[in-house]
Amino acid sequence: MAARIIAQLLVSGGTLLFRSAAQAYRQAIINGKKAGVHEGTAQAFRSKKMDLVEAYSILGVNDSTPWPEIVKKFDHLYGVNERLGSFYLQSKIYRAKERLEMELPEDVRAEMKLKEEAERSAASAAREEEEKKSGTGD
Ligand SMILES: *[C@@H]1O[C@H](CO)[C@@H](O)[C@H](O)[C@H]1NC(C)=O
Repeated sequence: MAARIIAQLLVSGGTLLFRSAAQAYRQAIINGKKAGVHEGTAQAFRSKKMDLVEAYSILGVNDSTPWPEIVKKFDHLYGVNERLGSFYLQSKIYRAKERLEMELPEDVRAEMKLKEEAERSAASAAREEEEKKSGTGD
């Protein structure tokens, strides 16, 4: 008898809780729309506005670190977090590199990109060659 009453109270309490949570959620959406905050734009804004200081500290470099060293740090950190499965940190690291890239002069940036791509494809070609030799391709 008492158990049934308690169970009923829990059910109605749960419904109430659910209702107020749903209401709060709806209100938050309405407020967000009123303020003109769309989730997409808010997110884009945040990622574009990553602090330069934050970007340096994420990659553990500073404004006198040569670009190739920044790339090396990036590759290392990105790889480590891939192995650890931390998508969140990976995206932070990616944004940090992107932010520091913005600091490079336009022509330097273009040149670096070309070089980097050439190095990447050379490295992946070497990896493929290595896999062929050891015969453990996946
Ligand atoms: C800047 O970073 C480099 C490593 O990239 C380090 O050797 C150097 O001491 C740092 N300089 C300052 C002022 O922190």
